[in-house]
Amino acid sequence: MRDVEGKVAFITGGASGIGLGAAQAFVDAGMKVVMADVRQDHIDAALQGFADRQQNRAVHGIRLDVTDRASFARAADEAEATFGKVHLLFNNAGMGIMGPAKEATYDDWDWGLGVMIGGVVNGLVTFLPRIIRHGEGGHVVNTSSMAAVIPIPNTVIYTTAKAAMVGMCESMRPELAADNIGVSVFCPGPVQSNIHESGKTRPPEFQKNSGYAERERQLGARTVNPLWMDPVECGQRILAGVRNDDLYILTHPEFRDGAQEHYDALVASFPNEPVNQERADSIRFLLGNRMFTEELAKLRARDG
Ligand SMILES: NC(=O)c1ccc[n+]([C@@H]2O[C@H](COP(=O)([O-])OP(=O)(O)OC[C@H]3O[C@@H](n4cnc5c(N)ncnc54)[C@H](O)[C@@H]3O)[C@@H](O)[C@H]2O)c1
Repeated sequence: MRDVEGKVAFITGGASGIGLGAAQAFVDAGMKVVMADVRQDHIDAALQGFADRQQNRAVHGIRLDVTDRASFARAADEAEATFGKVHLLFNNAGMGIMGPAKEATYDDWDWGLGVMIGGVVNGLVTFLPRIIRHGEGGHVVNTSSMAAVIPIPNTVIYTTAKAAMVGMCESMRPELAADNIGVSVFCPGPVQSNIHESGKTRPPEFQKNSGYAERERQLGARTVNPLWMDPVECGQRILAGVRNDDLYILTHPEFRDGAQEHYDALVASFPNEPVNQERADSIRFLLGNRMFTEELAKLRARDG
């Protein structure tokens, strides 16, 4: 989607932090943006910000819990009624759910995966047929995290969900290219946002038996670190990734060495044995993906 002017974006978790930064970058590039968010106070503040910058006609706010499928369909109808065809789906709603695996309860798992995987599934099932139907092509960006690239302890629910985003995007991308829909997985490092307030979006039914209540309270007291990336800069990087149809949209080069070590460890773990050629020939379609060859060729050409 190199030409974004006049196109419409639907952003979940769009009224705060990374989603709001992306909304600003998209509007600045001439797009119309629907900010769908579960927090009405975030929607109100975001709309006020755009009004203050005389950009309110380019944005629309919708209260949406991404886990609610019926509401998602209604939100898509409202987006289309407001701005017309939606081209860019940014599945971004999420939370900072942190704590050790042994303390995680069903409530913690169900809330975390319900929003950060289930909510994305709902976004895809709602919007892919609509994008395909209008025939103008489009793009899907799913928010993952550097936690998927370099997993660290005490993030098991978060990392599980964010790693799922990588596999989901890598699997869909070649398929959806046939429908002129690009797919990118967005893996940011730390970005200034309200993620420390994640506890405020935990529904009551997932509060009763949480193992993470005290950690969520402590997270709520954390202040935003000014060294973390500005969300609008982050949004501009997302926009560039959409325009370039990048498979991976990354933000922080300081994670490169850790990523290299991760994938080196994986490749070094293959059995050091001769390949069974007959077996390899029978599963040739599993042994490589042209998508990676093409992406590497594109990136090498770009970087000289
Ligand atoms: N900030 C970071 O450092 C960072 C790093 C990597 C990944 N991420 C991811 O980026 C995404 C955005 O987070 P952020 O840091 O901008 O936090 P944020 O809290 O500022 O923004 C997230 C928004 O999502 C909304 N939201 C939460 N649950 C929702 C639901 N069920 N339905 C609809 N909206 C919902 C919240 O109300 C909030 O407005 C998340 O998926 C997060 O995991 C953040």
